[in-house]
Amino acid sequence: MSFETTASSSATDKWFISDAQFNSLYPEPIQALSKTHWTPLNAAKEAARFLAAEKSARILDIGSGVGKFCLAAAHYQPDAFYYGVEQRKYLVDHAEAARLTLGYENVSFIHANFTALDLKAYHHFYFYNSFYENLAPINRIDETVEYSNELYHRYTRRLLLQLEAMPGGTRLATLCCSEEDMPADFHVVGSSLDDYLKFSIKI
Ligand SMILES: C[S@@+](CC[C@H](N)C(=O)[O-])C[C@H]1O[C@@H](n2cnc3c(N)ncnc32)[C@H](O)[C@@H]1O
Repeated sequence: MSFETTASSSATDKWFISDAQFNSLYPEPIQALSKTHWTPLNAAKEAARFLAAEKSARILDIGSGVGKFCLAAAHYQPDAFYYGVEQRKYLVDHAEAARLTLGYENVSFIHANFTALDLKAYHHFYFYNSFYENLAPINRIDETVEYSNELYHRYTRRLLLQLEAMPGGTRLATLCCSEEDMPADFHVVGSSLDDYLKFSIKI
């Protein structure tokens, strides 16, 4: 499923005219992964509007890839702080290079497995089904990490436990995730893009 756009009426910055234009921040092999692995601009725009609920909110993208969500969110909602945690170092390097080109000071990328982070350091979260690569034998980003069903379940359990420990009012935007995989105490309050993008708030 692809939601990528070819035009954005609100964008004034040349990088945000279209997904293709934004993707040209990256080398071609990274651009080629975009349709399957990087958040489209229209999804990032809507998710950012939901997540940047208060000024200076700290928003974490769990599995941030080349930083497309964080960078686009910072463009559309510049009053928040965006953090991306990513397990593949070379993707973090591409994210940081794109951040430098855009000159955004309110975006940071962390090279780590998300399991090393304390999610309490953040207010709200974005999640583009990052652990699914463990289940899908095709269209993988690369073969540099270990994949297994066991890892999928371990990461999912760990994420659910951490989200369940967050205070009421915590916001979560998910792309291409089924509701069964989300914490029970996060209530879906809206959706977009034919329900592929879901917005929920912890009660
Ligand atoms: C579908 S991509 C989404 C990238 C980015 N969030 C975006 O929307 O443009 C998922 C990313 O999660 C990363 N990832 C998967 N498991 C992870 C983990 N346990 N810790 C950190 N990153 C992880 C993958 O390396 C991949 O770059």
